[in-house]
Amino acid sequence: MHPILPGAPWLIAHRSMLGVNKPHKITLNGRDYVLWQNQRGEVFGLDNICPHMQAPLSDGWICRARDTITCPFHALEFDTQGQLYREETVTQPLLEKLDLTVIGDNIWTYGGCEPKIPIPELIERITPGFEFVGIAGSKSIQGDFLSNILINYDYNHQNGTHREIFKIKAIEVNDYQENGYTTKLLQKVTRDDNTFKELASNPVLFTVPKTFVNQFEYSFPSLTSFIATIPSGQFIQIHSLYPETENRTKTFVLVFAKIQNLVLKILLKNSLLKAVDEVIRQDTETIENLYPRQKPKIRLPNEEIMFYAQKLYQEW
Ligand code: FES
Ligand SMILES: [Fe+2]
Repeated sequence: MHPILPGAPWLIAHRSMLGVNKPHKITLNGRDYVLWQNQRGEVFGLDNICPHMQAPLSDGWICRARDTITCPFHALEFDTQGQLYREETVTQPLLEKLDLTVIGDNIWTYGGCEPKIPIPELIERITPGFEFVGIAGSKSIQGDFLSNILINYDYNHQNGTHREIFKIKAIEVNDYQENGYTTKLLQKVTRDDNTFKELASNPVLFTVPKTFVNQFEYSFPSLTSFIATIPSGQFIQIHSLYPETENRTKTFVLVFAKIQNLVLKILLKNSLLKAVDEVIRQDTETIENLYPRQKPKIRLPNEEIMFYAQKLYQEW
């Protein structure tokens, strides 16, 4: 396939998703790759197709001592440069390497394309002082990249897609700023009361007041982030999005928190990750059920930002 947004930096994994010496398969712009992290924290990426008889290397295994991956079919071994591993002989690389840039715990790639824009520094800028809680909402969504990115820039779907979980009554968008591939805004959310049953099944709701402010920042096209400030502390969600194929999009969310109260912190961690999983599940369901895109015949408030993202996509 022709790559979607060639030259964009994509956040393809967080270290915690890789484990140690375990093959991890990703698909980017129609190509499969295998990634792995060794015990020293070095991360490698190769084409996933074995050059012998095309078995998926990600089903193979890693040799810890030699930093090699072994094909599951005939057990040929390849080193981190994609060369066939034979003691004392160096062959030509038979497998293409995937370009990787590891920044802290985050693994970025341009997927073999010439970089067009730099890797955003958003994560390093907004997370200091926060604790990494975990990864949530990891999903491969049946839907093109544009539909997936637009839902992240859409301030009117809370009362439809997410009606049950947060009981949002109103959303006000303020302070919208555009600056090239970066956009920022403040979102003021007003919620309805939750029933006891809702609170019991989702304890995160106990900490969410009737009104609160989310600070959104987007680094088109790969990242959407927001900082939610509530009386007991702050949460950050950073959504990564990348095109797997023309009609499949991968997403996962890095979750961070800053909560002073230790008991609350322990209580909230799991329910926070669960809540993010649920939000992504609801978004996925919406995207997967859309009919093919047409020009909308109705406009809602605050849709400019969505059309701005669409313009960035179309004019890339
Ligand atoms: S297919 Fe990989 S070793 Fe034969
Ligand atoms: Fe959503």
